[in-house]
Formats: sequence, structure tokens, C-alpha cells
Amino acid sequence: MNEFFNDVWRGLNTSPKYLAAKYFYDATGDAIFNEIMDMPEYYLTNCELDIFTKHKSEIANTILSYFRDFDVVELGAGDATKSAHLLDVLLRHEIDFTYYPIDISQNIITQLNKKLPERLPGLKIHGLNGEYFEMLDELKDISTRNKVVLFLGANIGNVPLEDTPDFFTKLRSHLLPGDLVLTGFDLKKDPAIILNAYNDRTGITRRFNLNLLQRINDTLDADFDISQFEHNPTYDDESGACKSYLTSRKDQRVRVGEVGWIYFKEGEQIYMEVSQKYTTAQIDAFAEGAGFKTVRHFYDSKRWFIDALWQCV
Ligand code: AVJ
Repeated sequence: MNEFFNDVWRGLNTSPKYLAAKYFYDATGDAIFNEIMDMPEYYLTNCELDIFTKHKSEIANTILSYFRDFDVVELGAGDATKSAHLLDVLLRHEIDFTYYPIDISQNIITQLNKKLPERLPGLKIHGLNGEYFEMLDELKDISTRNKVVLFLGANIGNVPLEDTPDFFTKLRSHLLPGDLVLTGFDLKKDPAIILNAYNDRTGITRRFNLNLLQRINDTLDADFDISQFEHNPTYDDESGACKSYLTSRKDQRVRVGEVGWIYFKEGEQIYMEVSQKYTTAQIDAFAEGAGFKTVRHFYDSKRWFIDALWQCV
């Protein structure tokens, strides 16, 4: 929790102010994110579910054409709705694997450990609560098998574009030659459709962002007046960056812990999150630049989203 305080304190004392998107996911944030995934504007979930329902056998067969002795790791597993389709096919093939979901939310990991084996009888599951790379390090002591890494849901979009090559290089360094990675990328498309997904009329995304201020109030003894901040998403078609901000409605000061005060000007923003959108050329360049070979791109029927299957070279 000290790390949470340090990150919040640093981010709010920097100009422009920012908070880290990973902190959205407390139990309330998890529940609001489930509402986001259910809303019609948030096409990403439907697109990727379309890919997994239509192509799960092909994805499984492609994996099994490379190896039959492996474990499945999932980065940012969430409720595992999409991956469950693939896990189900692998179980039907009587593959002896363990599923290692990694998630920043303890609440998610507890739920998965309990609920997923009920949904998928015979599933061996070992949830890991923490940061991706720290948990991949821990996993090295647990299993030396080849890995199939699932990195779905456009979670990669939270990594700033300029850091993405390094992110994939780091991911590659945690894996072995032959290992497979399946990453979900949201593609550039009509800007209105993208912006709408992060600016729903019913205000679910607004609540999702404001919940982080509430979490800071509740766990770091702060006194944000939530009603005095507004949710402002933007999308820049040229860069593909969809960004969310919370904007101060007035000049105000907020106390955080014992330490002191944060001052906001009217209109001053806190940068909350980037949800990056990509071209296929960018996706291929990430693979090549980080030591992966592209095996295949799986598209939804609208061709709005890609699950890219890469192999470590
Ligand atoms: C979980 C990071 C994929 O960026 O689309 C959804 C999070 N934020 N609506 C995304 C999110 C606001 C989501 N990811």
C-alpha cells in the first residue's frame, strides 16, 4: 500500500498530473470494468469474443502443431471469459497443462482460483497476484515448461506507444525460444466509434475513472470531492492514442494523507489512462523488433480487432 501512496503522491505532484491505470482495479473497479465490457459502446470485448468463439479450434490446433507439453500464462486475466473458450478446447484435447492467470487485482485472482475449475472441470489453475514481469519471474521457479502466453483484451493499449517496443523486448526476455504469445490489439477505425467506447452516455466509464479518486480517499485518507471532477476522454486518429483525463471543475485543494495538499486550477487535468489503437504494420513491427515471428493474425468479422499469434525466435 506504501507503493500506492508513493505513486499517487508523485503523480499528483508532477505537471501535468497523472495516475497509473493499474490502480483502477480494486474490487469496485473490477465490477465497474465488468459493466464496461457489457455495454454496447465497448466493442472491444465483443470483437475479441467473436475471435475466440469462431477461431478457438484453429488457435488450439496451431498451438498444438508447435508443442503438446506447455503451460498457459495469461497477463491481466480479468474474468477469463475469452481465454476460457481456448482452455476448454485444450482440455478436450486432453492436454496436461496448468493455467497461470496473472492479475494486478487480488480480488480477480481469488475469484478465478475458485470459480474457473467449476466452469472447466479438470482445469489446473494457479493464480498469481501482482505485476506481469514480477509474476513471470516467480513463475520461473514454478514451471520450466514451454509457455503459451495470452495477453488479451487490448491490455497492451495501456502501455504508451513509445514504451511498447521495450515492453515486448522485456516480455521476450522472460520467455524461451519456441514459446507462443497471443496478444489482443485494438485497431484504428472510425474515430467516433473509438471515442464512444470510452465516453458512454450512461456514465459507466466516468464512474470507472472517478472510482480511482474514491479509492485514494478510502485507502490513503484523502478528501477528493468526487463531484468536482469531470471525465474527459480524447482520441487522436493520427497517433492512435485514446486518452482519459479527469478535469478539475474549479480551483480547489485536496488533502492526501497526513502529508499535505495538492492544488488544482479550474480546468487542470489528471491524465488517467491511454488506450492505444494500432495499424497491422505497427503490430508486425513490434513482433519483429522484439524477437518474435508472426505466426498468424486472427480477426473478428468486422476486422476491428486482432489477436496476433507470435512465436519466440
Ligand atoms: C482493460 C486497458 C483494455 O483501455 O480499453 C476501458 C480499460 N478503460 N474503458 C481499455 C478501459 C476505460 C481497457 N483495458
